[in-house]
Amino acid sequence: WKTLDDIALAGKTVLTRVDINVPMDNGQVSDTTRIDKIRPTVEDIIARGGKVVLLAHFDRPKGKVVPEMSLGQVAGALEASLGRRVIFPAESIGAQAKAAIAAAGPGDVVLLENTRFHAGEEKNDPGLAAEFAALGDVFVNDAFSAAHRAHASTEALARALPHAAGRLMEAELKALDAALGTPARPVIAVVGGAKVSTKLDLLGNLVAKVDHLAIGGGMANTFLVAQGIEVGKSLAERDMAETAREILKKAEAAGCQIHLPVDVVVAREFKANAPSQIVSASACPEDAMILDAGPETVARLKSVMAHCATLIWNGPLGAFELTPFDAATVAAAKEAARLTAAGSLISVAGGGDTVAALNQAGAAGDFTFISTAGGAFLEWMEGKELPGVAALMA
Ligand code: 3PG
Repeated sequence: WKTLDDIALAGKTVLTRVDINVPMDNGQVSDTTRIDKIRPTVEDIIARGGKVVLLAHFDRPKGKVVPEMSLGQVAGALEASLGRRVIFPAESIGAQAKAAIAAAGPGDVVLLENTRFHAGEEKNDPGLAAEFAALGDVFVNDAFSAAHRAHASTEALARALPHAAGRLMEAELKALDAALGTPARPVIAVVGGAKVSTKLDLLGNLVAKVDHLAIGGGMANTFLVAQGIEVGKSLAERDMAETAREILKKAEAAGCQIHLPVDVVVAREFKANAPSQIVSASACPEDAMILDAGPETVARLKSVMAHCATLIWNGPLGAFELTPFDAATVAAAKEAARLTAAGSLISVAGGGDTVAALNQAGAAGDFTFISTAGGAFLEWMEGKELPGVAALMA
């Protein structure tokens, strides 16, 4: 794929696909990370003499105009983050969009309306892509976190115009390659989360690629069950036990060492500060549930990390949203951050709850790279081709 260094931008109108699908709270953007992260691309395009026209989706309006899902509500936060005038034409195609682009002066940014207001977007309709393409000269895709969607503004549009990856896309692809493509070894993957069933492909792909796989969260309970260990009232998918055994077998064949909890924190209630105790992983009382990994498990995880050169992390190790059951996640994340800061570990994290957990641990700042992606990060960890990235290669 090409980068901004490889295509001519001077005097061009640059259709720039970004992911500013940000969380909202009472009409206000509650986390501007995704907005802030597009700044290098926007600034670079402007510095090279291009006119920036942002294409983006917001939420899931399913091909209809849903006023509450208008990107207009993000324009203010975008303007504040970029420190530039943002022109919002309330359409993403046609005369209205064209007029707004023509009216934009040097250094202005045009934000087009939610691409998903058009049914053709999610259908990857070449007709809609042609209407987007008619608005500009060049396509820059900076939306790694939407690259798992083959949509008109992420896939078909790349086939309609000369294209390149934006700076954030470039950084994401480089970091992910450093973590799983051609990593420094040994590599450890830390995978947590509630359910094995949602991460089957991911676990299957990882055991073939990494040297160590530490499993935490509710999904670890399913692996304990698979080994004939009783887990009381813990969250576990008993019907997935056979699948878990297959993953263990595949890991053994591939030379990937699996690390399951050896001790656990159990409680009788799923609530913050519920009275708890630490027991061996094989000794969860019948009326209790596992809510976190125990200190011995964390100590072992830390020592494995200390021997690794690369860490890839997705998902919390326990019920991190309930104190004190965030302890294992926080301790392991702090250690990963410490090793990274000391220069002995390359650490990459992403997907869903992960970033929130690392932020809570105060560890995110020291990670080598934190992906802005949720679903796209997971699909990439599953070893799937991301259509938005594939289209950039063509
Ligand atoms: C995300 O928030 O992960 C991306 O913006 C993709 O959104 P989607 O899951 O609605 O396609």
